[in-house]
Amino acid sequence: MMLTGKARLAGVLGWPVSHSQSPRLHGFWLEQYGIDGAYLPLPVEPAYFADAVRSLVRLGFRGANVTVPHKEAAFRLCQEDGNSLTERARAVGSVNTLIFEADGRILGDTTDGFGFVENLRAGVPGWDAAAGPALILGAGGAARSVIAALQDAGCPEVILTNRGRERAEALAADLNGGRTTSLRVVDWDQRHAACDGIALLVNTTSLGMTGQPPLDLDLSALPDRALVTDIVYAPLETDLLAEARRRGNPVVDGLGMLLHQARPGFAAWFGVVPEVTEALRAHIISGRK
Ligand code: ATR
Repeated sequence: MMLTGKARLAGVLGWPVSHSQSPRLHGFWLEQYGIDGAYLPLPVEPAYFADAVRSLVRLGFRGANVTVPHKEAAFRLCQEDGNSLTERARAVGSVNTLIFEADGRILGDTTDGFGFVENLRAGVPGWDAAAGPALILGAGGAARSVIAALQDAGCPEVILTNRGRERAEALAADLNGGRTTSLRVVDWDQRHAACDGIALLVNTTSLGMTGQPPLDLDLSALPDRALVTDIVYAPLETDLLAEARRRGNPVVDGLGMLLHQARPGFAAWFGVVPEVTEALRAHIISGRK
């Protein structure tokens, strides 16, 4: 697609940003929908983050994604006078999507949790968070987004376990306020037994990722119908997913979360609600090293 003088502009701010899949992802959609627009990688050092965002507003950008290490700085910027945060960004305490309003105000959103839930809905038609308890492994930023989204989707109970228990306790304390989902922390040693009776198992740790240690989890107590998913998508089929599949459990891989989390930003900047298709998945997989 050739750009005109009216091209809509967006991009991804990160440091470094060269590993980001977002330009390929948004570029695919821009092409697919024939949109007069561009989505650029924007490498920005942490010290210049806020200045860079203000400059993008001045340059007429529609908005941007924000990745490591800027997600908390983006949240703070959106707390400033005049700017705003979506409900879910406020709950999670970080921002991965910036939308620049016509008057220069900045709206911050976080879409990882949306991507997580949409990925499960797409992977298992009829999937309902209300079906039963969820066991979440890990207590980092990804766990925070996943748990907040499960709470919003009506999950009755979240069981949280992390190698460092204190981090899980802190996360549970943070996310507990005013919600109907019960949140309970169990020791990391108890993760095998905690599979008993759950409807959803989510790995949000880096265990099982290429180059990281394996995830040691005994699935014997896991109900046959429990859905198993992994935030890790390199490899696409982690050992956890492979074993769950062997046992006959439904599984959903983590790549779809990355694809679905990009949809709200694209829709806001470029005016088309984009679809996650097999062709898009194949495009992203083929571009990975
Ligand atoms: P993200 O923001 O992507 O979730 P993170 O904040 O680095 O990433 O969190 C990584 C998660 O993987 C944490 O839950 C971490 O556990 P700790 O809080 O105890 O560090 C977990 N993790 C990483 N390496 C691990 C390991 N070898 N054993 C168990 N858990 C591990």
